[in-house]
Amino acid sequence: MCGIVGIIGKNNATEILVQGLEKLEYRGYDSAGIFVTGNDNQDYLVKSLGRIADLQSQISPEVQGTVGIGHTRWATHGKPSERNAHPHTSSNQRFILVHNGVIENFEELKQEFLQGKQLNGETDTEIVVHLVEHFAAEGLSTKEAFKKTLAVINGSYAFALIDKRDAETIYVAKNKSPLLIGLGEDFNVICSDAMAMLSETNHFVEIADGEMVTVKADGITIEDPKGNTVYRESYEAQLDLSDIEKGTYPYYMLKEIDDQPTVMRRIIQAYTNSQGDTIINNEIVEQITASDRIYIIACGTSYNAGWVGKTLLERMTNIPVEVHLSSEFGYNMPLLSEKPFFIFLSQSGETADSRQVLVQTNELGLPSLTLTNVSGSTLSREADYTLLLHAGPEIAVASTKAYTAQIAVLAVLAKAIGDNKKNPVSLDFDIAHELSVIAAIMATIIDEKMVISQLVEDYLSDTRNAFYIGRGVDYYVSMEAALKLKEISYIQAEGFAAGELKHGTIALIEEGTPVFGVITDKKTAAHTRGNLKEVESRGAHNFVIALASLAKETDQIVIPDVHPLLTPLVSVVPTQLIAYFATLQRGYDVDKPRNLAKSVTVE
Ligand code: F6R
Repeated sequence: MCGIVGIIGKNNATEILVQGLEKLEYRGYDSAGIFVTGNDNQDYLVKSLGRIADLQSQISPEVQGTVGIGHTRWATHGKPSERNAHPHTSSNQRFILVHNGVIENFEELKQEFLQGKQLNGETDTEIVVHLVEHFAAEGLSTKEAFKKTLAVINGSYAFALIDKRDAETIYVAKNKSPLLIGLGEDFNVICSDAMAMLSETNHFVEIADGEMVTVKADGITIEDPKGNTVYRESYEAQLDLSDIEKGTYPYYMLKEIDDQPTVMRRIIQAYTNSQGDTIINNEIVEQITASDRIYIIACGTSYNAGWVGKTLLERMTNIPVEVHLSSEFGYNMPLLSEKPFFIFLSQSGETADSRQVLVQTNELGLPSLTLTNVSGSTLSREADYTLLLHAGPEIAVASTKAYTAQIAVLAVLAKAIGDNKKNPVSLDFDIAHELSVIAAIMATIIDEKMVISQLVEDYLSDTRNAFYIGRGVDYYVSMEAALKLKEISYIQAEGFAAGELKHGTIALIEEGTPVFGVITDKKTAAHTRGNLKEVESRGAHNFVIALASLAKETDQIVIPDVHPLLTPLVSVVPTQLIAYFATLQRGYDVDKPRNLAKSVTVE
């Protein structure tokens, strides 16, 4: 969602801001803008609807300075337009502000403090810059006016504020939205994600919720809500610029699909030793072993991975597992067991829906673990424990390698707990070996991508809808496969439990409707084949993804056998490629689907 960048103390502020915004494009946005000042008191505000390239085309050569802030906006309040794009300016043009998040009480604040004030656009953010102006007009310094504004706001925010009368300072604050300060020599930067400023520095300082930071070229001052100065060490971002470049790939999504065998090997390296035993923090293993129920909380693709995780954990640990959508669980919490343990699955570690659940479980004093790809992310900091996915930055909006990494790390975790409980299913399972087999098979499927591209042309070139069906873990993979297909190709796709079709959904099958069957489980293969026959006799154009030992000659994709508990790690790969090629063939932007954001920081 919205992205923020800022720079103070470098001559090429414009270039740094625009490059930073490009690095944040993956988060999803519909408009962008920059404000630059510092040279001979000249200042420039440039905003544009559309892509960063559109913004760039409006930036004339004289737009230069040493200080600036920039923003990509993902519309929440007010439609995407140049008027609603950030930065926003106060009526007297003195204050400039960018914002990520949602101000929940903006109507009330307008009533209370800004009656009769004519605002430019329809955003919740604009209120904030006018409030700073309002409090400054009462005689407060900019810092005090900003603090007073923060004190009356309810909601989530990351802000960067510039006062043109003292453009040697950027004021920054955050609550529930990500924001980092990057440290340089005689300059400092601000960013929603370290990736945006890696070309300038790899030393970053975290900001805690409620803190305010005064950023100058030669240093930063962090204050807690009571005004006490906070001293915090910086950390070195473990990221390489090459990790976030597309290289020779046309799209990040394809690069990330191709990355999966490497990610599996990285997970083996991070979580198992040379004897193949698991290496997981013992406290995590003991706490989960002592629990009577595991609650997996997640959204979207991570939620789909959670269902596969349920199967793995239940089979290997004998502990019951529930999987919940974060956006439902928080507002309708089920009766909990006596000794629950919470696992939060989140690629970004910033998803607001999941975080609101974690806030509640923390208030209840319940133990929690976050599986995330981003160390230092909010969900990682606020849970008791973290296991990193080691997938490397995932930039395409459609999640691929994070899904398989989540399942692989959950498998290692299940194995560690199962071994601790001396569960025979677990003791029989050589996780390091099985994951290395998976890595090799993933690579062979990926090598066949052009075959999949051809099949996609035959099956999906002109359809409006499609179905994935399966049973058990094949159903869970079907849910993920359908999400992937619909979110980027806009084909209306649904994943169904194969046995449920006849209870209603089969009514949607027409002549030529593509139905993809996923068959990797001996127990359910015959039944799913039966369901495929049922839809075929009603006109469906069937496509089967099957494990070699269960395959028939007519199946379209046959995958070598893997350990029965890990089949989702391989059966999902062709479905990722199907979504990729269907999107490419329809001429859409694979990495940046409409209306979607990578890091969903609003509830
Ligand atoms: C779909 C996708 C989303 C995310 C969801 C949760 O491809 O990426 O469904 O999985 O928004 O995001 P995280 O995992 O960052 O919490």
